[in-house]
Amino acid sequence: MRLLTVATLILLLKDCRFQDVHLGKQKIRVVYARNPPDAFANCLRFPQLQPNLACPFPGYTLEMMGQIAAYAGYDVEPVLSQNIVGSLDWGTRLSNDTWVGVLGMLANDTADVACLMYQRTDLRDQYFDFSYPLTNVQPIYVVREKTQDIGSILWNAFKPYSTVTWFVIVGSFITQVLVLIGISRVEKDLGMRKRFRPFEVFWQCIQLQLDEHSEDMNFFTIAGNIVMFFCALLQSGFLIKLYEGLLLSALLAPPSTNPFKNADGLIQLIGKGQYHLVTNYMGNWYFDDLVNSNDPHFVSLRAATANNPVVLAKSVSDALDMVESGPYVYPIQEDSLAMQMSKERCNLVYVSDGLPQVGSYFVFQNKSRFLKSMNTAIIMNSDMIQHTFSKYFREGYKIGNIPKCTQIVDTSNPEIVSKPLNMASTVGIFTLGAIGIAISTVVFFVEIYIFLHNRVLESHRKTRAAMAKNL
Ligand SMILES: *[C@@H]1O[C@H](CO)[C@@H](O)[C@H](O)[C@H]1NC(C)=O
Ligand SMILES: *[C@@H]1O[C@H](CO)[C@@H](O)[C@H](O)[C@H]1NC(C)=O
Ligand SMILES: *[C@@H]1O[C@H](CO)[C@@H](O)[C@H](O)[C@H]1NC(C)=O
Repeated sequence: MRLLTVATLILLLKDCRFQDVHLGKQKIRVVYARNPPDAFANCLRFPQLQPNLACPFPGYTLEMMGQIAAYAGYDVEPVLSQNIVGSLDWGTRLSNDTWVGVLGMLANDTADVACLMYQRTDLRDQYFDFSYPLTNVQPIYVVREKTQDIGSILWNAFKPYSTVTWFVIVGSFITQVLVLIGISRVEKDLGMRKRFRPFEVFWQCIQLQLDEHSEDMNFFTIAGNIVMFFCALLQSGFLIKLYEGLLLSALLAPPSTNPFKNADGLIQLIGKGQYHLVTNYMGNWYFDDLVNSNDPHFVSLRAATANNPVVLAKSVSDALDMVESGPYVYPIQEDSLAMQMSKERCNLVYVSDGLPQVGSYFVFQNKSRFLKSMNTAIIMNSDMIQHTFSKYFREGYKIGNIPKCTQIVDTSNPEIVSKPLNMASTVGIFTLGAIGIAISTVVFFVEIYIFLHNRVLESHRKTRAAMAKNL
């Protein structure tokens, strides 16, 4: 009997302690919005903070927020955002200084924190508190891939050197030919050479250039031999060998389908009006910085967009439709819904060169009392955060619907894919050969014509001379 009482007492005490802790737990109001991959909308329950068998990928921000709030000892009170997937308003400031969207819920004290990853901007900094950064994400431009036109295919054979280099090569060749012709002329005058034949020297130089040194190419002055030596060493030897090597790698490299190489290339195209920026959300950090930032990238982009304003689409899929059908560039991030949805389309390419990574943060109300303990929780859970991020974005799990494209263009991987040389890569070389044969055929007929013409003239002259004689 006494034993039972003690047991009941202990049980009661335990219950009491549990109750105490439970009562003492502070509530934190968290905005949850259906926005894959932050929070997938296809799990049975929403929000689901931990992965389970039925729902292995509930959303990366959901998992992080669940863990961090639990570590900080808070009870999560969900505040659901009633948005349709693809048209979430992350937070926009109206002209009368009120915020709408998710940030509006923080500003009017409907919630304490949003379960979404934000980037810092000066404007947001004035109105809200940011946590420690959780991850770094890569900004990316999505754009329709460039179809290869016949011009770029023909250009293949010239790819190893830039246009300027080609001009310098031709220029230096012509200079050397002229110098050698001059030297041979002087040699004739000095009596070292029997005949002065500029064309012969020219063809000999071409032979030397093509690594086919002619036996008759002799110079009698030291200066002439020195020029020929350098001609053979640099112009023909070095440049031709280099060309052979570079041509092979240029032909083997997969053809680039990006309309621009990096952020600077994009700014040029925007400045010329050939491409337009499109977004579904103007309050995005990228467009906020476009208006306010002093970063050189944004300053030059601002100048470029002065006459080419940013186009606003209704939703993420509308923006992607525009990118797919026209000259539009959509700046997004690797962790965004737009990235998720663009993976379901086939003819898009991604350019991230020249765009530095940006930090991702949780946003709290201004002067939030939760900030300190949540920051501690973020630091203590950095392993879990890293692990979750790489689980969703770096390890290649299929977390969305991915279509079967005939060829997935992955420009982030510069590794040269070994493949047999196809017609598209080599057609330039054959075309050059064909042009050469065509020119030589034309020249051949011109030469025959001139030869026959001269013969006719000659026979006329002879007949006239004979007639004069007879007369
Ligand atoms: C600000 O403007 C919006 C519409 O533009 C309006 O709905 C809202 O009530 C205004 N807020 C204040 C505080 O005036
Ligand atoms: C707070 O702002 C959100 C988003 O603009 C709005 O939906 C909600 O009705 C507002 N709540 C109050 C109490 O004003
Ligand atoms: C937010 O807090 C800062 C001080 O930390 C203050 O200067 C600023 O005015 C506050 N912003 C708003 C919108 O209340």
